[in-house]
Amino acid sequence: MALAAGTFVALAAAALYLTLQQPGEPVSPATVNIQGSAIGGPFTLTDHTGKRVTSAELFDGPTLIYFGYTFCPDVCPVDVAVMASAVDVLAERGFEVTPVFITVDPARDDPEAMAYYADAMHPTMIGLTGTEAEIKAVADAYKVYYERVNAPDSQAGYLVNHTTFTYMVMPDGVRAAFRDGFPPEEIAGEVARILSR
Ligand code: NI
Repeated sequence: MALAAGTFVALAAAALYLTLQQPGEPVSPATVNIQGSAIGGPFTLTDHTGKRVTSAELFDGPTLIYFGYTFCPDVCPVDVAVMASAVDVLAERGFEVTPVFITVDPARDDPEAMAYYADAMHPTMIGLTGTEAEIKAVADAYKVYYERVNAPDSQAGYLVNHTTFTYMVMPDGVRAAFRDGFPPEEIAGEVARILSR
C-alpha cells in the first residue's frame, strides 16, 4: 500500500521536521532530524527462532531497524532490501551493523514467517514479532503508525498501511531515522558518519 503509507510518512516526516530540524547542520536528505525527540525505549519481543529477546540484548552494537510485514506486496521488500544492502556497504567499510525487521502484522507474522523472510533478505537479519499489545507498544515508542486495510482481492485478505522509516539504534538509543526512497549508499554513508564521530 505505497500510496497510503506514503501519506503517513509525509505527515510524520513533516511533523518531525517542523519540530526538530535544526538549521545549519549538513546531513543527508534521507535523514529525518530527530534530535531532542523521544523515540525508542525498552521492549521484549520474540525473535525469528522463537526466543524472547530484550532490547538491551538486541542493541549490543549498531543496529538498523525497519517496521513492516512479510505479506507487504510492494514497499517493504524494497525498503528491507535497501537496509540489507546498506549493511553490506557498511561491512565493506569496516562497520558491523545488524539489520532488524519488526513486524506490524503479528497475527500472520509468526516466528516461522519471520525466519523465512529474514533469511531471504540478509544472513544476519533478525526478525521480531510478538503479541498485538507488544507490537503496538514498540510501534508507539518508535512513532510507527500502522493500520489494517481490507483488501478482498488480495490473496492475503488484508493489507497493513505503515510508516516506512529506517532507524539507526545504538546501545544508548536511537541515533537517526531515514526516509525511504534513497539508495543504500546514502543510508550507509550517514550511518558511517555517525559511527565515525
Ligand atoms: Ni510494507
